[in-house]
Amino acid sequence: MPGAQSRQDGQAAATSRSATLPLNAQTERLCNKTSICSRSYFVVVMVFFHVYIINVIALLFYVHYSSGQEDDSRSRDSQDTDHSRITSRDALSKVEYQRDFSLPRIEGIRVGHVQKVSLTAGKDHLMRTLSMKPLLFEIPEFLSEDECQVVMQLAQLKGLMESQLMVQGDHEELVKELNLSPEEIFNLLDINQDGQLQHTEILTHSRVRDGIWLTPDILREIYAGLKADINGDGLLSIEEFRLLSSDAFQRFLQQQGVKKSQLVRNSRHTWLYQGEGAHKVLQDIKERVIRLTRLPPALVDLSEPLQVVRYEEGGHYHAHHDSGPVYPETACTHTRLAANTSTPFETSCRYITVLFYLNSVEGGGETAFPVADNRTYDEVSLIQNDVDLLDTRRNCDKSNLRVKPSKGMAVFWYNYLSDGKGWVGEQDEYALHGGCVVTHGTKWVANKWINIDPDYQRQARYQQLVSQQPEHSDDDSSTASPDTHSSNIHQDL
Ligand code: OGA
Ligand code: CA
Ligand code: FE2
Repeated sequence: MPGAQSRQDGQAAATSRSATLPLNAQTERLCNKTSICSRSYFVVVMVFFHVYIINVIALLFYVHYSSGQEDDSRSRDSQDTDHSRITSRDALSKVEYQRDFSLPRIEGIRVGHVQKVSLTAGKDHLMRTLSMKPLLFEIPEFLSEDECQVVMQLAQLKGLMESQLMVQGDHEELVKELNLSPEEIFNLLDINQDGQLQHTEILTHSRVRDGIWLTPDILREIYAGLKADINGDGLLSIEEFRLLSSDAFQRFLQQQGVKKSQLVRNSRHTWLYQGEGAHKVLQDIKERVIRLTRLPPALVDLSEPLQVVRYEEGGHYHAHHDSGPVYPETACTHTRLAANTSTPFETSCRYITVLFYLNSVEGGGETAFPVADNRTYDEVSLIQNDVDLLDTRRNCDKSNLRVKPSKGMAVFWYNYLSDGKGWVGEQDEYALHGGCVVTHGTKWVANKWINIDPDYQRQARYQQLVSQQPEHSDDDSSTASPDTHSSNIHQDL
């Protein structure tokens, strides 16, 4: 063992010495001892070899894996972009539909801008921008005189019903059921929470809840009749409110008799189906709407039928939105079934309104857009100092924009903004509009509403659910693909 010890010492000494030697000398020393030299060479070569092999294998894995992924996404892309359909063969409920489709939106350019649109063979139409906020256009002679006649006759044949029924509220029972105190009711009504009920608060409430269009004048009459406003300041305090029974207003109005002119809407209407088997004129109109809006045919096909409205002399429709705001918890009426959830709010999600004038009205009956192209939108100033811009019986002359009915003309506008990513965004508050009172004759209009869910997934699921051809086929008309044939329909002038 002493020999072994000395060899170890010698090696250690040699190593410690070599650590201080210059590099050349080290190599020389290593290679002089040929056995050490060859072993270390072997080890180094083997290490490099293994690292190389591992690299090659890793590279092969990488190439294989990434190309597989590409294939995957390519096939997914082709599945989704194949005719840009948002339908899918997969099971409905859990599928996340890829959002690779943009809704076409016609550009307004500026007020007065005219663009040529090709809606029917052999005839060009001119489309003029009426306002940018909302994005609103008019197209004269969209319908021929004969077509207007057919639509009115079909509506009459079908029969029109009152657009708004007199409401017999069951609110009293609700109040009793909830056991609400006058203070609690007062708080619900006091929207700005200033401890007083202003005229606007009562007016809005009555319009929304009862569909009764009170005016400040009528409200003053009611206050006087009920001796409600004791100090005569035009406001109701909680003390004054407490002295009234909870249904005092309703009973007062019922005693007086609510006239049709006091309703939000005073007209009759019916619905005409435009699908397969419908009168040719109705189908033609739908086709023209598809070309006008450039929307995928499926979206128009799956929308509400045509609504035909008739106003008698004295008829009106106070300013309103055709579709409500959409919050995360809001469902759209048309996709509700597919949504498979229960939601507290529901609206009709009418992305576009196309309004057709079926006759030229002798007097009044304009469509008013009270705040079109306003610099700012201020809800409070809509009803101010007894001037109620929403009131189309009194204040149409104060509206920013009025469209005079002219037989065959169509106007159309977007009720929602874009979300900036090619889909439906927030409600456009400027799209507020109404039908001014008809002073002479009758007025006939038709509404074509195009329903699109601002929630892309819900719209996609709905279309999948109703599509008769879940399997892809080239002539599948139930897809949401943009109508590529109509790309030349719009031409700026
Ligand atoms: C409507 C509407 C306007 C008009 O029917 O929703 O807004 O001019 N009509 O009749
Ligand atoms: Ca108040
Ligand atoms: Fe409307």
